[in-house]
Amino acid sequence: MSNKKQTPVTKLNELEAAAELAKLAKEIAEHDRRYHTEDAPTISDAEYDALKRRNTAIEQRFPQLIRPDSPSRRVGFAPAEKFAKVTHGVPMLSLDNAFDGEDVTDFVDRVRRFLGLKPDDELVFTAEPKIDGLSASLRYEKGKFVLGATRGDGEVGEDITANLHTLKEVPAQLHGRHIPDVIEVRGEVYLTHAAFAQINEAQAKGGDKIFANPRNAAAGSLRQLDSSITAKRPLHFFAYAWGEATAVPGKTQTDVIAAFKDWGFVTNALMRRCSSVEEMLSYYENIAEKRAKLGYDIDGVVYKVDRLDWQQRLGFVSRAPRWAIAHKFPAEQAETELLDIDIQVGRTGVLTPVAKLKPVTVGGVVVSNATLHNEEEIARKDVRIGDTVVVQRAGDVIPQIVRVVEEKRPKGSKPYKFPTKCPVCGSHAEREMNENTGKLDVARRCTGGLICAAQAAERIKHFVSRNAFDIEGFGSKHVDAFLMDKLIAHPSDIFRLEERYGSGSKAIAAREGWGPQSAANLFAAINQRRKIALHRFIYALGIRHVGETTARLLARNYGSVKAFMKAMLAASDQESKAFAELDSIEGIGEVVAKEIAEFFDEKHNRDEIDRLLAEIDVEDAEKPKSNSPVSGKTVVFTGTLEKMTRNEAKARAESLGAHVAGSVSAKTDLVVAGPGAGSKLKDAQKLSVKVLSEDEWLKLVGG
Ligand code: IVH
Repeated sequence: MSNKKQTPVTKLNELEAAAELAKLAKEIAEHDRRYHTEDAPTISDAEYDALKRRNTAIEQRFPQLIRPDSPSRRVGFAPAEKFAKVTHGVPMLSLDNAFDGEDVTDFVDRVRRFLGLKPDDELVFTAEPKIDGLSASLRYEKGKFVLGATRGDGEVGEDITANLHTLKEVPAQLHGRHIPDVIEVRGEVYLTHAAFAQINEAQAKGGDKIFANPRNAAAGSLRQLDSSITAKRPLHFFAYAWGEATAVPGKTQTDVIAAFKDWGFVTNALMRRCSSVEEMLSYYENIAEKRAKLGYDIDGVVYKVDRLDWQQRLGFVSRAPRWAIAHKFPAEQAETELLDIDIQVGRTGVLTPVAKLKPVTVGGVVVSNATLHNEEEIARKDVRIGDTVVVQRAGDVIPQIVRVVEEKRPKGSKPYKFPTKCPVCGSHAEREMNENTGKLDVARRCTGGLICAAQAAERIKHFVSRNAFDIEGFGSKHVDAFLMDKLIAHPSDIFRLEERYGSGSKAIAAREGWGPQSAANLFAAINQRRKIALHRFIYALGIRHVGETTARLLARNYGSVKAFMKAMLAASDQESKAFAELDSIEGIGEVVAKEIAEFFDEKHNRDEIDRLLAEIDVEDAEKPKSNSPVSGKTVVFTGTLEKMTRNEAKARAESLGAHVAGSVSAKTDLVVAGPGAGSKLKDAQKLSVKVLSEDEWLKLVGG
């Protein structure tokens, strides 16, 4: 190891060097595995860095000895790359949450409204426990298990077929009636409390990592490269949903779950049908009472509209179905001491207070940081350094501080004073006036903009992050170090790194922890991203309020980077037509539109985009459902619709790639007019826009 007396690199002969490189490759790979796969490093970061440095130093002296499996050839270790990627044909959605009876009532009302049901029309939901495990998708072709995948980000998961094959509750072959040619059965992989305890006991004996909770243990077991390890862990699988299917066995959720059971899956015996909010809530209470005795972790119950034709009509919004909701159990809480408040500066300059806590276990996980949201929140809760606070953790969300235990407040403590200067660049930090509400924004922002190192760093980290440019091996640490040494200042500099500091000047290869090979790997990773999807490009710009969903909307709407840039430059004038169009994109509200316009109004942003575009190629956005007869068309609905609600009609049209507008103009392609249509119909006739009845519309879009 690193602390043993080592022969200086300059004194090594070739034979010794080769032997040591072999040893280092093995040793470092093992530490990588412990760190990334097991989450259980056995050496400190400094010791690890020393091993890597030694490896690099030897390789620099004996470049002919660089091994194919050398640690320097792997820039950063991306565990996600270990398994092949699987793109889900039908995305794996998440669920919206309800936290109380009112939320559940709202959900049911929303469903009723969307479907246009009358108060006494029957609406049945299934109710079932929400399992706290990991979701998986199992693909069966002609009844044979052919592919198993993790959820991943919902669109792309990992191929863990071999591991899932080892589960007793994942049938290799389906038996029974009505088995479709293709069906993806989805559900939750989990461990019982008993199995979890046994695994931890075995881990402890072997000196291996202790898992914090059954979910982590299940995840650790499933993400094994060696499926014989997975096989030893008694993982279970509940089937509760499906993805791609050539046929669906039934007309209701209940039917399908019954078919799953018939085919050989385990389904949750606690599933019930409920036909009112009262029944749903009493089901919830009942499961909450049973929770401790179930023998596996659950974190709530899930309600789903039973009728599949209604599920279909309801569809989904961004990442969650409109036809289901998770009713969560209250979060787990614990008391601890607030040691300090750290102020972090984000990409858009927001100062975020983070509570530094005396480590405490909350629901099986050790928590030492919690979010404090913002200045107002600290004032409202009167949180002071030194206070004893109640910390809460719900599912995967960041732990929060619920309240202060005032009885335990130390004498002489003073209210927390939120800084009015950026802790990183010293610029004034201010709260802006929100034009729409006339109130002060809750967030205090550093006004340093480009001169603030924290903002620059966060912007670049965002730019290279997984859902943006996804530059492998260029993690936070490297970004910070490169910025500090002025190798980069803006995102576009990343694409000029090689040209500036490539093999010639060795500025990168000679850095601590780097070598010619790792520099070459970084350049390769960067070059791979010179071609990028439009929505990733837009997301990467880091415009305030423009997350992935909005970026996709923009990409879809404008189609190409050229069209997008042209429109955005015009939209920076908020009186322009281009701005009105941006504002009218379904899913983009005025606040967001303004934020985008302001971003493009800044010369330094435009200049940076120009520099970027000189380096990269942005691919056109895929037009969704371009085979639909209405894709790309602008449609206006007017009058009373009789077979669907207005919202439903709109959602359907949009899912087919149409743009739904509120008023008729020369740009309108179609007007769908029901009885009672007034001025919009007249406008359509005046402008000779094609007018369809509701039935004609339904015929056009396929019923
Ligand atoms: S249904 C389209 N049912 O919860 C709806 N999900 O927060 C698909 N989960 O990713 C999900 N138990 O991993 C459904 N009985 C259940 C569930 C369940 C656990 C998980 C699932 C999903 C997450 C969403």
